[in-house]
Amino acid sequence: MKLRIAPVLLASVSMLAWMQAPAQDGPTLFKTKCAMCHGDQGQGKPPMAPKLAGTTKDVAAVLTKGGEAKAPHVNPMSTLTPVQVTALVAFVKTLK
Ligand code: HEC
Repeated sequence: MKLRIAPVLLASVSMLAWMQAPAQDGPTLFKTKCAMCHGDQGQGKPPMAPKLAGTTKDVAAVLTKGGEAKAPHVNPMSTLTPVQVTALVAFVKTLK
């Protein structure tokens, strides 16, 4: 019996890991959730969105409380977990 359950368990655990892996990673999160507006390197895409490299704004606050009314940070981004916010904040700091 144990021999039959083990592969199923292993498969579910690796599925979970696969599903969560990209979601915890700053560069990947940025690419999938931010780059379309802010650019791959956070260089900005005027007039769509400002440059993020070197921003003096509190990135965590923008992502959890929202920016100005025209920016969609809170609504579509409300699925961000605290871990993801931390990863994104750290990644934005590395942008130059
Ligand atoms: C649909 C377009 C769009 C997406 C997607 C988007 N942003 Fe923005 N972002 C904006 C706009 C527009 C502004 C300028 C208005 C404002 O500050 O709210 C902005 C402003 C910001 C600011 C403030 C910058 C400054 O110096 O004023 C930060 C920080 C930021 N975004 C981070 C992010 C991060 C991190 C993501 C990905 C999780 C993201 N944004 C996704 C459009 C977007």
